[in-house]
Amino acid sequence: MADLLLYALVLLAASSLAVKNDILDSATESWIPDDDFAKIVRFSLPFSKCCNILFDGSMEDTEVLFRQFRSVYPYEYLLKQSIYDCNGYLLLGSSDEEIKKSLDKIPSLLWKTEILILVNNNVTNNSSLLDCSSYGTANVNIVSMSGIWRLSENYLKPRIFNKLDRYDGLKHEYDNFNFRGREMQICSVFRPPFTFFNHTINKVINGVQANVFVFDTDLQRDGIEMQLFLIIAEKLNFTWTIRKPEGKSLYGTRFNATVWNGGLIGMMHENKANMAFGGIWLIHEQHEFVHFSEPWYQLLVIFLVPRPRPTTSFWALTKPFSGKVWYLIASLLFLQSLYMYVRAQIDSKFPKRFRNFLVSLIDLIGTFLSTSVPQTTTNNKLGILLWQTAGWLIISAYCSSLAARLATLEYENRIDTMEQFIAANLTWGRIDQPPPFRDYFDLTDAYAAQLPNRFHLLNNVEEINKHIMDGNYAILGKILDDCFFPDDYVPNDKLKNFRLMGQSVGRFYAAFAIQPWLLMPVNRMMLLLKQTGIVNWHMRNVIRRRSSYNLRDVLVEHDGYDGSVQILGLTPLAAGFSLLVVGLSIAGLVFYLELKRATGSTSVYRVLRSIAGKRIERDLKNRP
Ligand SMILES: *[C@@H]1O[C@H](CO)[C@@H](O)[C@H](O)[C@H]1NC(C)=O
Ligand SMILES: *[C@@H]1O[C@H](CO)[C@@H](O)[C@H](O)[C@H]1NC(C)=O
Ligand SMILES: *[C@@H]1O[C@H](CO)[C@@H](O)[C@H](O)[C@H]1NC(C)=O
Repeated sequence: MADLLLYALVLLAASSLAVKNDILDSATESWIPDDDFAKIVRFSLPFSKCCNILFDGSMEDTEVLFRQFRSVYPYEYLLKQSIYDCNGYLLLGSSDEEIKKSLDKIPSLLWKTEILILVNNNVTNNSSLLDCSSYGTANVNIVSMSGIWRLSENYLKPRIFNKLDRYDGLKHEYDNFNFRGREMQICSVFRPPFTFFNHTINKVINGVQANVFVFDTDLQRDGIEMQLFLIIAEKLNFTWTIRKPEGKSLYGTRFNATVWNGGLIGMMHENKANMAFGGIWLIHEQHEFVHFSEPWYQLLVIFLVPRPRPTTSFWALTKPFSGKVWYLIASLLFLQSLYMYVRAQIDSKFPKRFRNFLVSLIDLIGTFLSTSVPQTTTNNKLGILLWQTAGWLIISAYCSSLAARLATLEYENRIDTMEQFIAANLTWGRIDQPPPFRDYFDLTDAYAAQLPNRFHLLNNVEEINKHIMDGNYAILGKILDDCFFPDDYVPNDKLKNFRLMGQSVGRFYAAFAIQPWLLMPVNRMMLLLKQTGIVNWHMRNVIRRRSSYNLRDVLVEHDGYDGSVQILGLTPLAAGFSLLVVGLSIAGLVFYLELKRATGSTSVYRVLRSIAGKRIERDLKNRP
């Protein structure tokens, strides 16, 4: 009896409040228990850190639900307005029409949009709210008095509203994506070591002719990105066909701010493929047209440059000392001779022969080279001794250094920096299309800015071969893990004369191009593949199996000392021989001139004959 009385009182109070329309003090109970309401909000808006609350007209009827939301939602919310950055939406209403009007106010229905619809009324099974096509790729939950629905995830086709019997079912399937065998259109190209397929057949897809890759052998299923893709496809449970991009170019080219022509990027931009891979790099220009997954690796762009060739120089004999040392020795020689010469002039006890400067110089050179033992000169013993010691030290240093140098091969300087690249006058090229220079090189660098001028667009592999044969050609490629891969195919035997340049020209992230609604599942897979080391494992495995000896060899320098001893040729000793020839010629000339002066008018030949004749006579006389 008392219970009934209390009930009547509560009813009375409630109705009087409703009449007063005092919504703030409303004590009306919500038809959703608080615990369940918290669950609904958590499951429906799992990622948004902000919520737009939309309702049509006044909030009279739905005020209770709104207050419930306010008490459980931990982040900021916006009333009756929506801003682009905020991806969560709560639509409140009492009829389908009210909700529809609110829905029209959402600026864009994207894969990251999260919508919770709370209907303070019954929703029938044939309600217009349950029309999937009005929600784009957004994630939607509907809660009403007569039932709850969850729109199937946007990666499944066709999307349907599933009627649920428990609030737990509202949870979106983000942890365990399952595409249930949906067929995906993939676009890719032959690009070792990322992909290795190259055999296509014609097939009709969605009524359009397409070039589809077929896999005759396991070798064609190989490739780092192909292996990663196969794992993603298996885990997300989708089927696929891989086709070639339309048009000739691999990645296509940007036409203007809204049009991208052909290639992998063009196919993605025109929505003709769900995913594309095959050496696609996260480049700003491409990012404006397509979405990229998390990158799976960072690679270096680098040139192969010609190896330094062995050289021999005419001046090899001067190599042990730097120019400064040679200057110092020459000036010391000159000063010491000058000193001896001057001293001999003023000091009467000093040997008279030093009064001739030339004689002093020659004597000093002789002493320096330890080829003449000095006659003891009372007044200059110490000076000469020191001179001889210094000479001995310098000559020993010279000889040992010379021996080491002449016995090993001398090489040209290595090309390791952009400056040396430009100085060596190297050119480079690529088949198909020029790379995006602005993305590849730091064009603010004075030397890198000249690289585009050195570029040749090539038509086929034969042209690369021709450039390599002509010399002064650099090969562009990338470093993955510890292996080099050229951008274009280069025959193995041609790689022998190339080495890796020291300085890399750029760094890039390798990623898959994907449609936005695939971002979440693919990114999750990508992070898992990276975290677990599967990416690295496949990378090493593919590189180990598919890279040739010559691709590894470019990392090895061949211009160091290899332990072998060279047989000396003529060139490195040429300076020495030349000195000998010059000295001999001068001596011969001087001798001739002296003879000429002594003989006066008679010819030198006759004088020589007469000397010879006298010598024979004397020899005959002296015979026993
Ligand atoms: C993958 O999808 C197919 C087709 O719907 C389904 O039969 C299969 O059970 C799914 N596999 C897994 C592991 O969910
Ligand atoms: C394409 O595959 C064929 C065999 O199917 C092979 O002979 C050919 O060398 C491949 N082309 C390239 C560019 O690898
Ligand atoms: C780009 O080119 C296309 C085709 O010529 C044209 O329709 C479009 O308006 C252009 N866009 C811009 C931003 O210039």
